Amino acid sequence: MTANEALAQLEQRAAAELHAATDEAALRAWNTKFFGEKGEMNAALRLVSTLPADQRKAYGQDGNRVKQSLLTAYEQKLAIEKEASLLANLAANPLDVTLPGRTMSAGGIHIATRVMREIDAIFADMGFQVFRSREVEDDQTNFELLNMPPHHPARDMWDTFHTKTPGVLLRTHTSPGQIHVMKQFAPNPVRAVLPGMCYRYEAITTRSEIQFEQVEGLVIGPNITMADLKGTITAFARRLFGQERQIRIRSSYFPFTEPSIEVDIDWPKEDPNADRLTKGTGWLEIMGAGMIHPTVLRNGGYDPDVVSGFAFGMGPQRITMLKHAIDDIREFWKNDLRFLGQF
Ligand code: PHE
Repeated sequence: MTANEALAQLEQRAAAELHAATDEAALRAWNTKFFGEKGEMNAALRLVSTLPADQRKAYGQDGNRVKQSLLTAYEQKLAIEKEASLLANLAANPLDVTLPGRTMSAGGIHIATRVMREIDAIFADMGFQVFRSREVEDDQTNFELLNMPPHHPARDMWDTFHTKTPGVLLRTHTSPGQIHVMKQFAPNPVRAVLPGMCYRYEAITTRSEIQFEQVEGLVIGPNITMADLKGTITAFARRLFGQERQIRIRSSYFPFTEPSIEVDIDWPKEDPNADRLTKGTGWLEIMGAGMIHPTVLRNGGYDPDVVSGFAFGMGPQRITMLKHAIDDIREFWKNDLRFLGQF
């Protein structure tokens, strides 16, 4: 049998076997058998080098034609087979496009931020502007200008983080912001709230953190009185905690206010936690406040004979704990999603 006859037979046999292959695995096996590294078709093509020189060209051309036509037929059949098996698969495992998709979990606004915004909004409605002031302060503004000279015993009320630079510290309360507001607005009347982070060098417990927010408020103008302070705080407490809330004022002491007070709100008796929260009194402290001390007004650039003012300072984390019955202040900055996701 000549090489040409063998090639013709091979072509016939390969075509017949291709015809007989009915699934993808059989097709691939066919491809390996004829066109794999040790495949029969490749072997037949290699024969060209054993032929007499005058037959090589014709044989080579013929071999290539056979190769191309077989491969084309193979590719076509493979494509048809793949399509068919995909359709069979879809029919066997139908896709239910009406099934609900998987929801993505979306982030939310931190509870501390939410309450802070709520407080800012209540005061904004009453005509207060929101004023930001720095967290890294100097001793002068955090203490001295607030009527606490060096070695004043009242400084002990605020355990302080000092920096390596003498006289530079992390503010222990938002009250130094009062000085910044006054210096900017004196001698004009002003109504401002100052939200922001404060720091105290204290043991961390369920009730105290070394980092917490405060909202300071101050109002300065002609004839501002304690009655204005009382009315403002009552309106605020009712917006935040409910229209039936009452406030109670107790005498207190801060070096930068005179007189100084602490403000309590009555806690709803229906709340099963009322007794524990209020230690049986029915009242809960929400802020410190008072009439701005004449010395502080003067330090801020105002004339205490012409204007007067009140100021208050509260801790929104404490207020949030009251509102949402949270009993551990450390939850706020722990970033535990099981806690944060509740709100
Ligand atoms: N700065 C005080 C504190 O941190 C609160 C306060 C603010 C009291 C303004 C009176 C007036 O405790």
